[in-house]
Amino acid sequence: MRWIDTLEAAAAEKLPEAVHRYFRQGSAGGISVGEAVAAWSAYRFRPRVLNDVSMIESGTTVLGTPVGVPVLVAPSTMQRMADPDGEIAMATGVGAANSIIGISSNAGTTFADLGATGVPWWLQIYIVRNREITRQMLDAAVEAGARAVVLTVDTPVVGRKEDTGETVWDLVQPGHLLANLPPGEWVDADLAKADDLGPEVIGWLAERTGLPVVVKGVLRGDDAKRCADAGAAGVIVSNHGGRQLDGSIPTAQALPEVAEALAGTDTEVYVDGGIRRGEHILTALALGARAVFVGRPALWALTVGGAASVTRLLTDLGTELDHCLRLVGCQSPSDLTPDLVTRRFVD
Ligand code: FNR
Repeated sequence: MRWIDTLEAAAAEKLPEAVHRYFRQGSAGGISVGEAVAAWSAYRFRPRVLNDVSMIESGTTVLGTPVGVPVLVAPSTMQRMADPDGEIAMATGVGAANSIIGISSNAGTTFADLGATGVPWWLQIYIVRNREITRQMLDAAVEAGARAVVLTVDTPVVGRKEDTGETVWDLVQPGHLLANLPPGEWVDADLAKADDLGPEVIGWLAERTGLPVVVKGVLRGDDAKRCADAGAAGVIVSNHGGRQLDGSIPTAQALPEVAEALAGTDTEVYVDGGIRRGEHILTALALGARAVFVGRPALWALTVGGAASVTRLLTDLGTELDHCLRLVGCQSPSDLTPDLVTRRFVD
């Protein structure tokens, strides 16, 4: 068994049951979270042979930042439940793998502390109803050196989790999240997610921050085009790890449509959800993604072994990708083309 495949069970030994469940769960009936990995594994390859693969380079650039592996860490909350140092440990691990980390706007670490690590990071933002909170959060992130803003658009309301018994919310401590909430007398209505957003918010974010804006949670080609037309520098094909609308299509299915819609534009395409192996990354890159994000595997790694395990997760996935590149007959991600991938023939 691969070390990566041992991580969730090892993390479950260390975490309170309610936290493990929170990390792993999907929304509602769990259909989308259950399908994500299998959807990637349903692709088959049409490898090229008699190509020189003696020199492999799987590094790339993402919005102009070089990365050693095209595997980034997705933004997620509650990292201080996985490791006492939370996002700092995650960022340290990501930095050692020469990658980029997404930081949740609900993070338990201040942007200033994060910026002090020197690791390239992107701010994930949920725009909330009281825009003053959002404005101040954006300004603090810019001040602390965020390299991009990731606007999550699949969450006008938080997906319904069908929990019974103790939940993560019973265990959460002050300081576990919302470390970047600006000072003020905020009430729940201020903090509720904005549900009236349109594409113009992309331009507003770009103007406010001077940073590239990446839209996270796109599953359709027409929406991807609307984002690009509104000035998005990137889109992340994502169904939020199956935590928002349950029954949303797997990202493995959505990616080709989005990549096609954005072909010929400067808008970069990324994907997350169920990516667990080099073969999955190979598929995603061949279908048009510039890089992938991993969510839960990074949380398991952080729980099990802190920063060092996060680094190992990313470098192991990079090593698997190198191996797959050789076997598919390509030297680098830029050689990968959609014709290398097809849908499964045998049911
Ligand atoms: C998330 N995700 C998420 N996304 C986001 O935009 N803001 C957030 O605060 C969070 N928080 C969060 C918490 C937990 C526990 C999980 C598991 C996920 C979604 C995340 O960024 C990503 O889209 C998925 O996790 C990717 O799927 P995999 O790799 O977990 O299958």
